[in-house]
Amino acid sequence: MELYETLSIRRSVRKFSDRMIAPEILERVLDAGRLAPSAVNLQPWKFMVIRSPETRRALVECTRGGKQAHLAMGDLCIVACGHEEDCYQRQGNYMKSFAMDVAIALDHMMLAAAAEGLGTCWIGAFNEEAVKELLQIPNPWRVVGMTPLGYPAESPPFRGRKGMQEIVCYEKWEE
Ligand SMILES: Cc1cc2nc3c(=O)[nH]c(=O)nc-3n(C[C@H](O)[C@H](O)[C@H](O)COP(=O)(O)O)c2cc1C
Repeated sequence: MELYETLSIRRSVRKFSDRMIAPEILERVLDAGRLAPSAVNLQPWKFMVIRSPETRRALVECTRGGKQAHLAMGDLCIVACGHEEDCYQRQGNYMKSFAMDVAIALDHMMLAAAAEGLGTCWIGAFNEEAVKELLQIPNPWRVVGMTPLGYPAESPPFRGRKGMQEIVCYEKWEE
């Protein structure tokens, strides 16, 4: 699928079928994350692929109100982690780069998934301490985001975006 078409059809999917993802398709999706850019090319990431239904149910319990049931739907979920120390420490001269490095990589995977006819949904509302304990993720790794991955069982509508005029300005700052 062409990139711009992929960008326009991707949606956050919250209902999935149980259909399995072929290994070569999963590998292409994961490789899209591997190819993502990162600050100083440090690639401070680890992507955990979780298929165990039991672990996935426990992960749902780590989400806000235990309500993000879609994390346990579809074939598997990906837990995207970032290394707080082996990343660029002074991004913009004020922050560590791991969260944006991992976010870019996860977004690459989500777009690749959309191009493969798969659905994803960024899950950001979770208790990091609980996820780390459940999955035995050591410090200084941090959990940046998670997504279910599988074949969609719904076709969500376009959720709307701000207009270009509101978000883009040229040459000088404009409100
Ligand atoms: C950083 C981030 C955190 C998000 N957290 C959640 C979440 O916890 N649960 C959820 O269902 N969707 C979550 N989303 C998905 C957004 O709600 C969704 O991207 C937005 O409503 C636009 O819809 P669309 O992705 O279908 O275009 C998150 C998205 C981002 C980028």
